[in-house]
Amino acid sequence: MSTPLILGIESSCDETAVALVRGDRTILSHRLAGQEAAHAPYGGVVPEIAARAHVEILPSLVEGALADAGVKLTDVDAIAATAGPGLIGGVMVGLVTAKALALAANKPLVAVNHLEGHALSPRLTDPDLAYPYLLLLVSGGHCQLLRVDGVGQYRRLGTTIDDAAGEAFDKTAKVLGLGYPGGPRVEAAAMEGDAKAVPLPRPLVGTPDPHFSFAGLKSAVLRAHDAGIHSTPDIAASFQQAVVDCLLDRTKLALHLAGPVSALVVAGGVAANRAVRGALEGLAAANGLRFVAPPLWLCTDNAAMIAWAGAERFMAGHSDPLDVAARPRWPL
Ligand code: KG4
Ligand code: ZN
Repeated sequence: MSTPLILGIESSCDETAVALVRGDRTILSHRLAGQEAAHAPYGGVVPEIAARAHVEILPSLVEGALADAGVKLTDVDAIAATAGPGLIGGVMVGLVTAKALALAANKPLVAVNHLEGHALSPRLTDPDLAYPYLLLLVSGGHCQLLRVDGVGQYRRLGTTIDDAAGEAFDKTAKVLGLGYPGGPRVEAAAMEGDAKAVPLPRPLVGTPDPHFSFAGLKSAVLRAHDAGIHSTPDIAASFQQAVVDCLLDRTKLALHLAGPVSALVVAGGVAANRAVRGALEGLAAANGLRFVAPPLWLCTDNAAMIAWAGAERFMAGHSDPLDVAARPRWPL
């Protein structure tokens, strides 16, 4: 079977999503329901509220995605779902739904690591992206530099020793009173500000291993805000520049450590940030490498990337038993 049809489910954080993707990279349909309004009053994702919302919306998204694609459940070759890492209540909702569908339709189940979904997402829209590639995976929960050698084959070169980059964006948004979700709001505020206005640290820049640290930067933003002398756009722009400088320096080092790679790739929610994309594109060009970033909608959480990672796994001969566990932590 060269082009299997995969139904993918994502529910590990605050997006509920279902997609139908073929092994030849055709995205037949993708549906996504965000939960922004439900979490906004709390300034961040409340796990219990997220899990309940997934339960309520998921069945209609499955029906809708099948209808949009014009296929029936029996036409699907395998059911893929995020099995971790993430907020465990939400992960369980998606995984149990996938198990029920697999059981009802007598189809194989593919348990997908959410990080693998992000890591392989650039290959869904770029058929020419060949292994190995250097991946900067920057999301709300993770900040890693990986050499991607193949499906299930990852060499981790660097990771964060405290916060993830997206977390730093979200916390900065909270300090600056920009609300939730933070990343896009900080980016918008930064457009109006001066990136050189506020002196902020670049943690771990220049150190010999390509790790990250953002906790100190977050505290520095809080101090700058409390000092009351800088405007919100200036703090946002200076913060964003500091993050970009850290990502760039660490990625540059990882490129030297990774050995020959086919491309520099960025994925995960923070890859939606235009300043981050622009800086990495420049780094790739300076090294004579291709730069690949998924379209914005594929950077943040979605089910097409889960269906695609499921397709890659399924085509490589992998499937999982129906008693496979949901995992809150699951390093790649
Ligand atoms: O990949 P993702 O949707 O969920 C996780 O797996 O974590 O990433 C969400 C993270 C959030 O921290 C969000 O603030 C950040 O990605 N993000 C951004 C932007 N869009 C989303 N950060 C900076 N600039 C953006 N435009
Ligand atoms: Zn994610």
